[in-house]
Amino acid sequence: MINYKDLGLVNRREIFKQAMAGKYAIAAFNFNNMEQLQAIIAASVECKSPVILQVSGGARKYANQTLLRYMAQGAVEYAKELGLNIPVVLHLDHGDTFELCKSCIDMGFSSVMIDGSHHAYEDNIALTKQVVAYAHNLDVSVEGELGVLAGNVGATCAQYIAEKDIVNELVLLDIKEGVSEGKSLDLWQTAPVVFYDTRIKGVTNDYAATADSDVVVITSGLPRKPGMSRDDLISTNAGIVKAVTENIIKHSPKAILIIVSNPLDVMCYCAYLTAKVDSSRVFGMAGVLDTARYKSFLAEELNVSPKDIQALLMGGHGDTMVPLPRYTTIAGIPVTELVSKEKLDAIIERTKVGGGELVKLMGTSAWYAPGASAAQMVEAIIRNSKRVFPVCTMLNGEYGFKNIYLGVPVVLGKNGIERVIEVQLNKEERTLLDDSAKNVKSVMEVLDNMHIF
Ligand SMILES: NC(=O)c1ccc[n+]([C@@H]2O[C@H](COP(=O)([O-])OP(=O)(O)OC[C@H]3O[C@@H](n4cnc5c(N)ncnc54)[C@H](O)[C@@H]3O)[C@@H](O)[C@H]2O)c1
Repeated sequence: MINYKDLGLVNRREIFKQAMAGKYAIAAFNFNNMEQLQAIIAASVECKSPVILQVSGGARKYANQTLLRYMAQGAVEYAKELGLNIPVVLHLDHGDTFELCKSCIDMGFSSVMIDGSHHAYEDNIALTKQVVAYAHNLDVSVEGELGVLAGNVGATCAQYIAEKDIVNELVLLDIKEGVSEGKSLDLWQTAPVVFYDTRIKGVTNDYAATADSDVVVITSGLPRKPGMSRDDLISTNAGIVKAVTENIIKHSPKAILIIVSNPLDVMCYCAYLTAKVDSSRVFGMAGVLDTARYKSFLAEELNVSPKDIQALLMGGHGDTMVPLPRYTTIAGIPVTELVSKEKLDAIIERTKVGGGELVKLMGTSAWYAPGASAAQMVEAIIRNSKRVFPVCTMLNGEYGFKNIYLGVPVVLGKNGIERVIEVQLNKEERTLLDDSAKNVKSVMEVLDNMHIF
């Protein structure tokens, strides 16, 4: 058991107020080193009570601002590692500067509490205003609104997003009467159990309810049935994605659109042609999922944590996707040092048909990992965290391609695609990427021949 007294437990008035308001179960802590901090988080898990970590007080006796920042970041990262959505509060104190607040906001702190008792009143007000203005500018104020289309993938994505507690309101929309309403009510009734504030609303075809969404995840359309390829879905799904995108953009002209419907690469292109907005705001989820499948197979093979696998996968979302063993490491160790070529080739082949394996088992396509992957992209945008993910994006000369949607590594932030990262490819990898692009181009031609644009 952990002795809280040894850890220097402090209940500050402001934090207590929030606790009383029912926002958090309790508590604020001082801590003096990383070990104490980790013990506090572990204790909060044990108590099953949401905890506010207060980075302050005692720490200052020992820490300069650089060390404090390091500890604060440690708190955020460790909490994330444990899969916790812990609000981390920076309790400002003697001599804290705007720079420190700024770096904490950039790290993903959910709030910055400025303690009036340590600053001169005017300085305090000025600093508060500066910090708030910075946070609002970045749009990290967790004011985000989100539209999600609500089939299996959409509803699961909504669930993961709600659990992250990163947006104020989340709207589920479908054409099936009552389904979104029911699913959203069910999700909202989960809030008191799982602890989130996100308001969830369900509507049937009422796009006005999604008005002014910051991010919209489009999952509408048919999923695959056994024996079908993703490309077989184009004739039905192109019409659906076009109609949905038109309505979304009409009501949320500034929204960032994440496309999930298949055939993914060409549905992104379809949404882009319909939305007529900068391509940095229209892109697709595939690489995060395909990479997750690849990582999960590797973790199983090596009996290591999936958290320690870093990997990159490029190309179209289909059997021609391009996993890149040269850019795959296990905690920094090249995968080729730990897995034989034969086993690695088998894992790559399994990854390529990973979606099909699930369709065969369930009679329809997967939703847990796809929903979680889209939610992870939403989080990177809402938090402006500049995560590096493989994303299906419009290429304007990068990798030598133009006017094609293809999976490549990008930086994701509040503006959507902040930039495309171009990695060096060897001859073999280049050939695979070219083949994948050719395949996407051939499906794009099917879209062109539909003459809907
Ligand atoms: N990109 C990926 O990695 C990935 C992964 C999994 C699934 N998918 C694709 O995502 C799509 C959704 O899959 P799912 O399993 O959630 O299917 P689903 O059938 O459970 O959900 C699709 C929903 O779209 C709705 N819909 C159909 N037409 C609509 C319209 N005009 N307006 C609004 N809603 C409409 C349907 O009523 C249905 O509820 C499929 O195309 C599937 O192939 C992509």
